[in-house]
Amino acid sequence: MRLFVALDLPWTLRESLCDLGTGLPGIDWVPPENFHVTLRFIGEVHAHEAEEIDLALAAIEAPGFDLTLSGVGITEKAGRISSLWAGVERSQALDHLRGKVETALLRSGHASERRRFSPHVTLARPGQPADPKVAGWIQAHNLFRPKPVRIEHFTLFSSVLGADQAFYTAEVEYALRQA
Ligand code: 2AM
Repeated sequence: MRLFVALDLPWTLRESLCDLGTGLPGIDWVPPENFHVTLRFIGEVHAHEAEEIDLALAAIEAPGFDLTLSGVGITEKAGRISSLWAGVERSQALDHLRGKVETALLRSGHASERRRFSPHVTLARPGQPADPKVAGWIQAHNLFRPKPVRIEHFTLFSSVLGADQAFYTAEVEYALRQA
C-alpha cells in the first residue's frame, strides 16, 4: 500500500480553500475531501511494514496546536506548473510534530526524507505551461489567511492513484495532547 502521514483539515478550512479554486479556467482542482498537509510521504510499503509504522506513530507524544494557512504559490518544473498550493505558516509545534514523525519513520527503517519540509496544501496539479493568468491568481489570493484551526490529531493515509485524482483513506488517527 501507498502511505503518507498528514494533517487532516477541518471542513471550515476546506471551505475557505475551495474559495481559491476560481479564476483559472481549465484547471482541475483537487476535491476538498483530498485537502491535507503532508508531514511525511512514505510511499509503497508491505503490510508488515505498515504495522511497524503504525506502532511507531502511535508512540508519538506531541501537543496539539493551531495551524494557520497563509498565502498561495506555485511550483514549477521545466516550464510547467506542477502545483498550485496554499502556504502553511511554520510554527514550533508543527516542526516539533514533523520531527517526531520523521524519527518514528527512521526507527521503523525508513531513510530520512531528503526533501526540505515545505508545508502546504496542494490545490491543483495542472501540469500546464506557466500562463499569465496564474500570476493574476497569485496576486488575487496573496492575502489569503483564514482563521487558525486547532489540530488535535495527525493521520496515516493510504492513497490509491486514479486516472484523474488520488483516493485517500484515513487509515489511523493519532491523537495529540490537549492543551
Ligand atoms: P504534494 O501535495 O505536494 O503533491 C500524497 O501523495 C501526498 O504526499 C501529497 O500531498 C504529496 O505532495 C506528498 N508527496 C511528497 N513526496 C511525494 C512523492 N515522491 N510522490 C508522491 N507524493 C508525494
